[in-house]
Amino acid sequence: MSIIAIDDERVGERLLSIEQIAQRVKELGQQIGNDYRGRDLVLIGVLTGSVVFLSDLIRSIPGNLEVDFVAAASYGAVTHSSGVVRILKDLSHPILSKDALIVEDIVDTGLTLAYLIDRVASHQPASLATCVLLNKSARRRVPVDLNYVGFELPDRFVVGYGLDYAGRYRNLPSIHVYNLEESSGIECRRPSAD
Ligand code: IMP
Repeated sequence: MSIIAIDDERVGERLLSIEQIAQRVKELGQQIGNDYRGRDLVLIGVLTGSVVFLSDLIRSIPGNLEVDFVAAASYGAVTHSSGVVRILKDLSHPILSKDALIVEDIVDTGLTLAYLIDRVASHQPASLATCVLLNKSARRRVPVDLNYVGFELPDRFVVGYGLDYAGRYRNLPSIHVYNLEESSGIECRRPSAD
């Protein structure tokens, strides 16, 4: 039973349980650990949505690794990106000649990740790969190479395990559908750091 009480009826059906997520994150961690054995691995978390996933993932990866963060913003509605992405926080440390792995919570249109792949590539890592927990491939607008994928998702807006709606619900331990059609109808526009 969850200790988190949610008073918003728009938080709906649970798509992924704590156990399902934990099992898949463990598998991804072991796969990444095997693939990068003996390499100089840097995981690059995309703020803010990836923090819960990243914190579990790094503890599932055997061997040495480093962690850095980037943040991007897209101007648009709360639930979708406008396509205009800009960097809010770049890498804090050089990754020249290291193996970079971008860790993202969810890929929707692909615009944010495509932008970040170019941005991180400009720092000249030895290799660059991507790891995403959730993939909404039906909504893709630009192609992006995904090397490690946790789960394929239907075209639903989801919250929990780091994913938010208007900044809320990141602390839900499992992943739920968020029923947008029952929302107030007011589309809140904001510059968002995803
Ligand atoms: P993209 O640029 O359209 O691929 O959007 C990527 C970003 O949009 C993600 O990093 C999330 O912050 C946000 N996003 C997309 N879909 C969802 C969702 O279902 N729930 C919460 N955030 C989402």
